[in-house]
Amino acid sequence: MSFPLLDPTEAASIVKHDMTVGFSGFTPAGSPKVVPGAIAAKATSEHEQGRPFKIGVISGASTGPSLDGVLARADAVKFRTPYQSNPDLRKAINDGRAQFFDMHLSQLQQSMRSGALGEVDVAVIEAADVTPQGEVLLTSAVGASPTLARMARKVIIEVNEAHPTDLLGIHDIYEPQDPPYRKQIPIMSVRDRIGTTRLWINPDKIIGIVRSNKADEVGGFDEMSDTTRQIGANVAGFLAGELRSGRLPREFLPIQSGVGNIANAVLAALGDASDIPAFEMYTEVIQDAVIGLIDSGKIKYASGCSLTISPEVLAKVYGDLKRYSQHMMLRPQEISNNPEVVRRLGLITMNTALEADIFGNINSTHVLGSSMMNGIGGSGDFTRNAYLSIFACPSTAKGGKISTIVPLCSHLDHSEHSVAAVITEMGVADLRGKSPHQRAEAIIENCAHPDYRPQLREYMKIGGGMHTPHTLSKAFRMHVQYQETGSMAGVEWN
Ligand code: COA
Repeated sequence: MSFPLLDPTEAASIVKHDMTVGFSGFTPAGSPKVVPGAIAAKATSEHEQGRPFKIGVISGASTGPSLDGVLARADAVKFRTPYQSNPDLRKAINDGRAQFFDMHLSQLQQSMRSGALGEVDVAVIEAADVTPQGEVLLTSAVGASPTLARMARKVIIEVNEAHPTDLLGIHDIYEPQDPPYRKQIPIMSVRDRIGTTRLWINPDKIIGIVRSNKADEVGGFDEMSDTTRQIGANVAGFLAGELRSGRLPREFLPIQSGVGNIANAVLAALGDASDIPAFEMYTEVIQDAVIGLIDSGKIKYASGCSLTISPEVLAKVYGDLKRYSQHMMLRPQEISNNPEVVRRLGLITMNTALEADIFGNINSTHVLGSSMMNGIGGSGDFTRNAYLSIFACPSTAKGGKISTIVPLCSHLDHSEHSVAAVITEMGVADLRGKSPHQRAEAIIENCAHPDYRPQLREYMKIGGGMHTPHTLSKAFRMHVQYQETGSMAGVEWN
């Protein structure tokens, strides 16, 4: 069987109001780039004729402007899960026009299979190619595609010529059985291959192919600043100390690195650190810095879920894919982020906080406790199960008006029980084996910006002698003052 060629509008015509649509990809990598625009155009036309049109949108993680962006601008998103980072969609979510539920990314596929997220009416899967038997060669990400495609009633394949068919061999597609029949995930080392190189989709469900030729819409990173460079150096220094003390094995352990500017800078710093040996990564997103470190030999192998790399760097990888494929593998998110594997391999996890409180609780998602930034992503999958879990962030944000070290996080993503170290450009707070009082001292003295240390010390004093000395009526005073005056500085507690 070969599949009919459809134009995007024809393909989008099978998507009706209130349906749930699953999209391939993980971050803008591997996300469809043509059909979503046609769905958005249909939504706009329906709205103009006074008819409702909104769909549920499930993808592996975030996507690019030509998916989340166009659908959000067309007011076509009924619900969205499990992660997003597009400014238009973020606005729709924070304005209450789109319902967003933020999930641990490793749990998405199991949750879908359980039925908790409802049926999947249509899946749109980006491919480098597809055989008449329905064997799909995925592109720069695996994400949740195996589950989305298997559960969907109908599937549209978006064949994107911007991705080479030489990608064959880079994917490792595997879907575990669900409890009570699940066996161990047989990954004993970072490079273990457990699945297939192509994703099989029942050809009876594939309604046709839409052609595209569009690069992944991955943005670049901010230039490294002295602050991000120093955060990176502090993380590298901490890990080198752990090696010297023998608390990390001499062979080192695989690294997971989070998303964003800080994570990219931290990784680059590990690359520059002569006292950190060459290492492997078992991570979610393979960012630009990973490619540079593969080139320099510092990263021996990277297992991830997506190649979320900027267009110039992706062009370099695609230009020498045979060589890079020896050093990389892409897995579904329930495997790349699998807590069982994370614990078994003993990962060093490095994620980014928006704010940390003086006791080591972490907020990675909500600005001032209420505005969604991106989502928890895989940070919880990794942090809770890490061998050594690190959170890094600058000590201040918004030109010093915000202290990222606060008395109490305005939203909780990772509890003090899961966090081994907090690191800013000021220094390192090693929280292991410390009581709340000792943690607070380490975080205030080593991580908080000097401008904010006096008021944080004072906060500890007004709490008196309790185990975790909070004063509930004042715990959010820094946040409230920022809302009222635009600065957290100079808070008085009495
Ligand atoms: N309050 C308000 N805004 C804050 C803030 C705070 N405490 N801390 C940071 N910000 C703002 C910054 O000012 C910046 O805003 P801007 O874009 O308007 O300049 C923005 O948040 C991003 O900060 P930046 O310092 O550039 O960080 P980043 O690019 O490294 O991203 C996270 C940081 C936390 C947003 C990002 O890592 C994330 O979404 N993490 C959650 C998911 C995750 O960890 N995934 C990895 C799992 S594998």
